[in-house]
Amino acid sequence: MTIGIGSGTTVYWFIRGLGERVMQGLEIKAVPTSEQTATLAKESGIAISDLDETDKLVLTIDGADEIDADGNLVKGGGGALLQEKIVAAASEQLIIIADDSKLVKKLGRFPLPVEVIPFGYQQVQRKILESLPCKGVQLRKKDERAFVTDHDHYILDCEFQKIEDVAALNISLHLIPGVVETGLFPRMANKAIIGFEDGKVEVINYR
Ligand code: A5P
Repeated sequence: MTIGIGSGTTVYWFIRGLGERVMQGLEIKAVPTSEQTATLAKESGIAISDLDETDKLVLTIDGADEIDADGNLVKGGGGALLQEKIVAAASEQLIIIADDSKLVKKLGRFPLPVEVIPFGYQQVQRKILESLPCKGVQLRKKDERAFVTDHDHYILDCEFQKIEDVAALNISLHLIPGVVETGLFPRMANKAIIGFEDGKVEVINYR
């Protein structure tokens, strides 16, 4: 079986756990969603597979920055949204693992990551502010310099505060030349496994 594995601090624990199962004899291959995940998976003894060499991805397990009641997601807090979205779209099921702080009534409190081509990114920034109900757009930085994704793009963190129509906003952003991908995953989650501080776990089925 080949599965997709997401990125981030929650998925870190999943990869560690999966690595232990592999040591006990579980046969599995994984398509990683970032260089960081690929490195961690290899270190954990998990065989890595390329998406283009994979016939069927049964499921992908990933984290999220926000999850609403319809299984709409905001992702990309760690900057891996492009590859995460490609892998999730190629999977039969997307299963989100998160703690209860990620559950929201409406998406938007977490600034929406939008991956853009570096060329002319300020024009994209201006268009988002002028044409969409966006309160502010920040170029993501790391060590005082523009943060660069695994695919050599920049990230704009956009403050929408409340996103009323997730699918429509996703399309509007995609219509701006220079936008590569958005951190909106409209109705993409099949299931969320939510951990609570007291140790309880809740499974939410969306579709
Ligand atoms: C990575 O770019 C993200 O999409 C992560 O999946 C998301 O930010 C959740 O990460 P944490 O598990 O670290 O909160």
